[in-house]
Amino acid sequence: MDKFVIRGGNPLVGTIRVSGAKNSALPCMAAAILTEEEVTLENIPQVRDIETERKLLVSMGAEVELGDGDARHRTTISCRTLSDPVAKYEIVKTMRASSLVLGPLVARAGLARVAMPGGCAIGGRPIDLHIKGLEKMGATIEQAHGYLEARAERLKGAHLVFDKITVTGTEDLLMAAVLADGETVMENCAREPEVTDLAALLTAMGAKIEGAGTSTIRVQGVARLHGAHYRINPDRIEAGTFLIAGAITAGDLVVANCNPNHLRAVIAKLEEVGVKIDIVAPDAIRVRPGGRLMAADISTEEYPGFPTDMQAQYMALVTQAEGVSLVKENIFENRFMHVQELVRMGANIKVDGRTATVRGPSKLSAAAVMCSDLRASASLVLAALVADGESILDRVYHMDRGYERIEEKLRSVGAEIKRMGNVFAPREAEAVAD
Ligand code: EPZ
Repeated sequence: MDKFVIRGGNPLVGTIRVSGAKNSALPCMAAAILTEEEVTLENIPQVRDIETERKLLVSMGAEVELGDGDARHRTTISCRTLSDPVAKYEIVKTMRASSLVLGPLVARAGLARVAMPGGCAIGGRPIDLHIKGLEKMGATIEQAHGYLEARAERLKGAHLVFDKITVTGTEDLLMAAVLADGETVMENCAREPEVTDLAALLTAMGAKIEGAGTSTIRVQGVARLHGAHYRINPDRIEAGTFLIAGAITAGDLVVANCNPNHLRAVIAKLEEVGVKIDIVAPDAIRVRPGGRLMAADISTEEYPGFPTDMQAQYMALVTQAEGVSLVKENIFENRFMHVQELVRMGANIKVDGRTATVRGPSKLSAAAVMCSDLRASASLVLAALVADGESILDRVYHMDRGYERIEEKLRSVGAEIKRMGNVFAPREAEAVAD
């Protein structure tokens, strides 16, 4: 198991570059299923989940080329032949986002067999809303032996209203609707930038979509889609994580290759805490100390609210802020796995249901800690960057799922961090459970 060794105390200074958004790349790669022609995607992050998605597509008969060297952020996918429209459990159990192939497979092949994802570290994470939408569009769905089997001659346009806002549910059904017969109106959709990214790719492939990024999306189904060459958005959560890395170490850090417009809620909250934030270019944000860090509450919401994927990282920051910060997690039922590890480092945090009460500032001391999921891992890295001494973080494969070579990026701006074990490189990685 890879570990990180981090010695805290260095302010991060310099420029750190953000990779492409994992949560855009995953639906965009699945969208290639919708056409027989080649889809080329740029700015793909070199992370474990992308490797898992590559394996999933190849297992269904697709050809997926992931570049090497400078081209390592480009993938070309051809789903001309889809010999086996099945998402096998061995792959799905390691990445829930595999359910994103459900809609495209039914739309393209009229058949999908997708292993039920089961829960994960942060919650039950059902896909009942994906299923409900497909049934409304005329698919028949059976569940047996841990698999979902969905069939449809051709999906029909429908009027869908999501009971809850779901990001991949919106993406899955958007991909089902683009080849459906007739118009689909989807209400109470997710407005995340990753949905807008996917809609932009689908439009480049010939889809007819209006309203992506708002809560109502209207789709006119077309008979077929063609290939496209598309560059995906920068990763707003990686960018937000680096903003907090600069803030928690009281450094002077420029976060480059990002989109400040996707980080409005995070920027506003960091300014409330007392961090100095400047937009220094259309794709760059500078973070510097603005005096003492002051406590401030957050309540995670769907976009454009404060993102749940930034909750753990924010909690690490406010352990250093003066006063009491209430951290309310509204999206997932079990997203406080980082709390006990932060407490072991000296943080003062009490959890009551979905609210964590953080009292600061606490002097954090280095410790051996365990990563449990992607964003909890990021929280522990941030805490270790400011803790007194040398921390050992175990099971950093969780980090490799969504952060590209994070130790190299942090070291380049002054962090004392090194990996014990092998640097993650695609194709060798054995996907591991969340
Ligand atoms: C996406 O997950 C992201 N993953 C998550 O990022 C992110 O935390 C989440 O959206 C919320 O922003 C990808 O995009 C690959 P949801 P998703 O469906 O789509 C419930 C990361 O760290 N729900 O928006 O799976 C669900 O249980 C990951 O990069 C249903 O009840 O999340 C949750 O409580 C973690 N039924 C809420 O909705 C459904 O059919 C929101 O989940 C679907 C969802």
